[in-house]
Amino acid sequence: MNELREILKFFGEMGAEFLHLPGSDPRADLAELNREILHCRRCRLCESKTHYVPGEGCNRPDILFIGEGPGETEDQFGRPFIGKAGQLLDKIIQKMGLEREDVFITNVVKCRPPNNREPLKDEVEACLPHLSRQIDILQPKVIVCLGKVALNNLLGTSHSMGRIRGQILSFHDIPLIPTYHPSYILHKKDKEEISRAKWEVWEDMQKVLALIPKRLP
Ligand code: URA
Repeated sequence: MNELREILKFFGEMGAEFLHLPGSDPRADLAELNREILHCRRCRLCESKTHYVPGEGCNRPDILFIGEGPGETEDQFGRPFIGKAGQLLDKIIQKMGLEREDVFITNVVKCRPPNNREPLKDEVEACLPHLSRQIDILQPKVIVCLGKVALNNLLGTSHSMGRIRGQILSFHDIPLIPTYHPSYILHKKDKEEISRAKWEVWEDMQKVLALIPKRLP
């Protein structure tokens, strides 16, 4: 088996991506999963979307960020978190001393729900296997759920973010940090509330940083 693995690894490195054992090469596994997502017709969201938004980033990330579903800009370009909420997420990632390329960013559903409504139960159920496979392939050290839709759909719970954040949860033995969705902060009007929410997200990100290997400067 190990010999076969080595042979397939060799051909994979030579560019024959289709010749690989699942589990042996996260880049090839992700490419294969992306191809499946880009042909997915498991729910109605594929009819109304412009582009599928599978997710992007490092294929062996320390951190996996999971949002709710693509918004208008993400749908237009096929990339996750690149609109206003994404700009705030980029700032958070940078403040953590990281780049977008160091982490992986995805959503619970890979197609935009019309008018940015919350994804429906059957849409989430149809799409969750994609997210589960992403987690299996990426093997992140920490999962960050951005908002209660990501959190509750992944865990099958009904937590309120205000109550649950601050705790370290777990998904299949991977530590899971729940925090506010960037849009939650962007929709606030009251300056004090904005500062408090930003501070709480920062506290949550400190917990994330404590769970990943230290990076050399
Ligand atoms: N909000 C999300 O939950 N995901 C995105 O990709 C963009 C905005």
